[in-house]
Amino acid sequence: MRLDAILSRFGYCSRREAAQWIKRGRVTVKGAVAKSASAKAEPVDVLVNGEPIEFPDGLYVAIHKPLGCTCSHREDGDLVYDLLPQQWLNRGDGISTVGRLDKETSGLLLITDDGAFVHALTSPKRHVPKVYEFECSAPVPLSAVGLFASGELLLNGETTPCLPAELEITGECCGRLTLHEGRYHQVRRMLAAVGAPVTRLTRTAIGPLKLADLNLAPAEWCAIDPTMFT
Ligand code: URA
Repeated sequence: MRLDAILSRFGYCSRREAAQWIKRGRVTVKGAVAKSASAKAEPVDVLVNGEPIEFPDGLYVAIHKPLGCTCSHREDGDLVYDLLPQQWLNRGDGISTVGRLDKETSGLLLITDDGAFVHALTSPKRHVPKVYEFECSAPVPLSAVGLFASGELLLNGETTPCLPAELEITGECCGRLTLHEGRYHQVRRMLAAVGAPVTRLTRTAIGPLKLADLNLAPAEWCAIDPTMFT
């Protein structure tokens, strides 16, 4: 790839600005100061301001989504993308969340610039388990455990029942629900269907990745290894 294309592809600056950056000696390739924007290089060999190119093989990040922000690029109000470095947002392929969490849901959320990764993790065929911990304003009936596991729960307005899901009731008005699909407001709608409206909801795991192991405070993020999902 041309150096100016690398700098713009990975969100550092425009191709035009890249020529200036190179002129000013801010870019090196294999340790030698780059002289021309049109020179070709592998992104892994390039340093910008003495630092390696960030996520040269794709951006894969876990964030602890705080309450109150939305997983949208467009809506008004606080967006999850506001919590991320501008350079990531400028990457040529764009970045997106892997699925979504509601504005009033906190917890583990993945961010990537790899569309195939999004597809692999959100495809209903893959059934990647997602674990949610919840509190409700009313007790969860014991009968919900069997109903959710049966694969027969039909949510309002839908024509196919929910896939079997594992419900653990951990206290009178709280529990843990593991889903293998991702329908709109699914946890809230499933619990509302058994008379237990959700008042607090957090996603604690996606497949093998557990929020607790990442040690992230709300709004903090870290890089992850995408191969753990393969
Ligand atoms: N289910 C919900 O109800 N909300 C979420 O954010 C995720 C799953």
